[in-house]
Amino acid sequence: MAATILDGRKVADDIKNEIAEEVAILKKNGHKAPHLAAILVGDDGASQTYVNNKIKACKKVGFEYTLLNFPETISEAKLMTEIDRINLDNDIDGLIVQLPLPAHISAAKVTDKILPHKDVDGFTNENYGRITSKNPGLLPATPFGIVELLKRYKIDIKGKHCVMVGNSRTVGAPMSTIMAYHELATVTVCHIHTQDLASHTRQADILIVATGKPSLIKADMVKDGAAVVDVGITRITTSENTRGYVLSGDVDFEEVAEKASFITPVPGGVGPMTIASLLLNTLKTTKANHTI
Ligand code: GUN
Repeated sequence: MAATILDGRKVADDIKNEIAEEVAILKKNGHKAPHLAAILVGDDGASQTYVNNKIKACKKVGFEYTLLNFPETISEAKLMTEIDRINLDNDIDGLIVQLPLPAHISAAKVTDKILPHKDVDGFTNENYGRITSKNPGLLPATPFGIVELLKRYKIDIKGKHCVMVGNSRTVGAPMSTIMAYHELATVTVCHIHTQDLASHTRQADILIVATGKPSLIKADMVKDGAAVVDVGITRITTSENTRGYVLSGDVDFEEVAEKASFITPVPGGVGPMTIASLLLNTLKTTKANHTI
């Protein structure tokens, strides 16, 4: 049986259309358009592509946007000053700093400098802590997008066994918390030190993988009929196309698609949903901060 593709591109387009309609109404009623600022440090090709996709999405839904591109050599202190400046700019509603940052800059320090109500990636300690509050702040964009994708395909989460492979602060840790706390799944978190990974992944009704290890998950590690979400996206060098690389997820798509009931493609699965969530967070914070 071939799995149903969880088409993140299509669902993200639906969400963008919904946002665009709301933005058009805001503007018609004399309110400001939401405004997202993105900081990109250096000239890493993948990061440039991701930031360009975010800017393109802003244009599509009628948001204002500001792109700040700093050289690789920018000091941490200067970057912190720039973030402060944007924090104080009342016209800017959301700010993201594209990761990874160069080794001389602390990503933890820089992301936590963003005011929590402008932190549309949901990376600050305050927003992270508030995941388990009765009144959550801005939810981390990738986990938020994954839950939305599962829900739009009507995949049951409550009471199901979700196995999260990866415990990163940006995806694995918040994702597992959201699945257990908000979505009421039974959650197992696996990571680099997990012994006999396959014995855990084989128990998953919902398997979410965010390790950055291309094709780590093979068919024999997946339960029949599982829903499989692949967060990985790694550029692998090749001479077989003019771009010079192919993209690979953490899941062996060809093999696993024969066994799973649902699967995200790479690209076109989780990535577009992260961007849709960024836009939703930016719209939410604009409305809250300007009491619309
Ligand atoms: N780098 C990889 N994923 C992300 C993301 O979701 N947000 C930011 N800011 N940087 C990233």
